[in-house]
Amino acid sequence: MRGKVEVLVYPDVDALARAAAVRVAAVASGAVRARGRFCVALAGGSTPRALYTLLASETFAPRLDWARVHVFWGDERCVPPDDAGSNYRLAWETLLEHVPLPVGNIHRVRGEWPCHKAAAAYSAEMQAFFDALFPCFDLVLLGLGEDGHTASLFPGSVALDETVRSVVAVTANYAGRPAQRVTLTLPAINAARQVLFLVAGMAKAAIVQAVLEKANGPLPAQRVRPVSGELAWLLDAAAANRLKKEG
Ligand code: 6PG
Repeated sequence: MRGKVEVLVYPDVDALARAAAVRVAAVASGAVRARGRFCVALAGGSTPRALYTLLASETFAPRLDWARVHVFWGDERCVPPDDAGSNYRLAWETLLEHVPLPVGNIHRVRGEWPCHKAAAAYSAEMQAFFDALFPCFDLVLLGLGEDGHTASLFPGSVALDETVRSVVAVTANYAGRPAQRVTLTLPAINAARQVLFLVAGMAKAAIVQAVLEKANGPLPAQRVRPVSGELAWLLDAAAANRLKKEG
């Protein structure tokens, strides 16, 4: 049974980031209370930067029990961790370096390894951590590309049809970013307790309309439908500009 989809629109990217930080802190507290830990898969790209910076701030950092937080990635580019294109580096510089998260709680994709080896190692680490074939993240954060991709699941990719593995290596050319990537698959994402898309900017207005106004479409982002978890889209007004106004 697929749950309902929440679409929340905020005036600008700062309000969007603040709302996302409030939500992440709330989900984290609930997870720690219920299961003694909070397992989150971070998004890559540029949109989450403001959220990660806020989570490291004096306002939000005290709200999370960082010793019980475990950080994974929804996808990673196959580049070294200090490379400008590394999603790990983005999270390290904006968040992880600034909070008391034990280093053993950072489950990094080994982007410096050959892609298939990095994917296999990441999958094995998740299977051991979750003691299950598929991970059950408390929260998966996702962005949206202008072509409808999410994580590193791109339109037309065979990775979209993966039903057995939780992690695969892919090649995708997008916006001049590193092409070799490792990504969670749809079964791994859809097993999450909550999935949160964060989308900002006028450039995304057309794809947001295409994704949200036609349910069950073929675009990768439309294939994100948590099996029993919650799905929410947090948008700024610019990215939501083409959506039909409520009411
Ligand atoms: C990546 C991301 C990717 C990203 C979208 C949106 O590794 O590139 O995981 O899915 O979220 O491309 O990127 P922006 O936030 O930069 O628009």
